[in-house]
Amino acid sequence: MNERRPLVGGNWKMHKTAEEARHHCQELVAGLRGPADRAPGSAGAEVVIFPSHPLLPPVAEALRDAPVALGGQNLHPADAGAHTGDVSGAQLVDAGCAWTLCGHSERRRDHAETDALVAEKAIAARRHGLTPLVCVGELLEQRRAGETFAVLERQLTALLDAAPDRFELAYEPVWAIGTGETATPEQAQEAHAFLRGALESRLGAAAAGRVRIVYGGSVKPDNAAELLAGADIDGFLVGGASLDAASFLAIIAACGL
Ligand code: PGA
Repeated sequence: MNERRPLVGGNWKMHKTAEEARHHCQELVAGLRGPADRAPGSAGAEVVIFPSHPLLPPVAEALRDAPVALGGQNLHPADAGAHTGDVSGAQLVDAGCAWTLCGHSERRRDHAETDALVAEKAIAARRHGLTPLVCVGELLEQRRAGETFAVLERQLTALLDAAPDRFELAYEPVWAIGTGETATPEQAQEAHAFLRGALESRLGAAAAGRVRIVYGGSVKPDNAAELLAGADIDGFLVGGASLDAASFLAIIAACGL
C-alpha cells in the first residue's frame, strides 16, 4: 500500500428516496469503524457519498456528525443562470458538498459530455472549493481495439490542459460499470500506472504522487482487497454495491486498515 489515504466514494446514481436515504445513512453511521478499531497510526479511508441532488439535504442532515463527506454527481460550468435542470457549484456547496463527480461515463453517454466540457466542470468545481473526482475510462470496443491508453491520455490531457489546482481521478472502464464484470487486478493496475505516468510527465513526480486514482466498475466486498493491492490503486468509486450499507461498509473496511 502507498502513502495516499484510500478514498472510497459511493455513487448512488438515480436511486433512493429521501426516506430510503435516511435509513441507509443510519445503518452506515452505526457500522463505521472508529479510530479504536484501526491499526495504530491509520487514518482509515476517506469516505464520500454522491447521492442525487434532491437527496443532498436529508443525507447531509443524517450524516451531520459522521466522518463521511458529501458530493454532487454533476455540476454546470456556470456559476448561475438560465440552465434548466442543472445545478451549480454554489448550490452544491450550499447543500453541504465538498466534492463533485465530473465526467462520469453515464453523463458522457446520456448527455454527450465531451472531454472539454468535463474539464470546464472541474474548473467550476474548484472555483467553488469543491474537489472534483474526474472519471475516465474506455469503452469495450476501444479496449478490444487496443485503444485504452490513447483514450485515457485524451481524457486526461483535456483535464490537465485546463489545469485545475486540485482533482482526484476515477478510472472506470465503461465495460465494467454495472455489468458485474470487474477489471482484473492486473488490468486495473496497468491502467492506473499509465495514468500515474501521464500525470508525472505533466505535473512532476511529487504532484502526481498526491493525486488519488480510484478504481470503479463492479467493485464488491469480495474483490476490493485484491484490487487495492495494486500500487497505483488508491480506493474505489462504488455504484451498485454502495446502495447496500453492509456491502459499502465491507468495502470501506477493506480500505481502512
Ligand atoms: P458499479 O458502478 O459499481 O455499479 O459498476 C460504478 C460507477 O458507475 O461509479
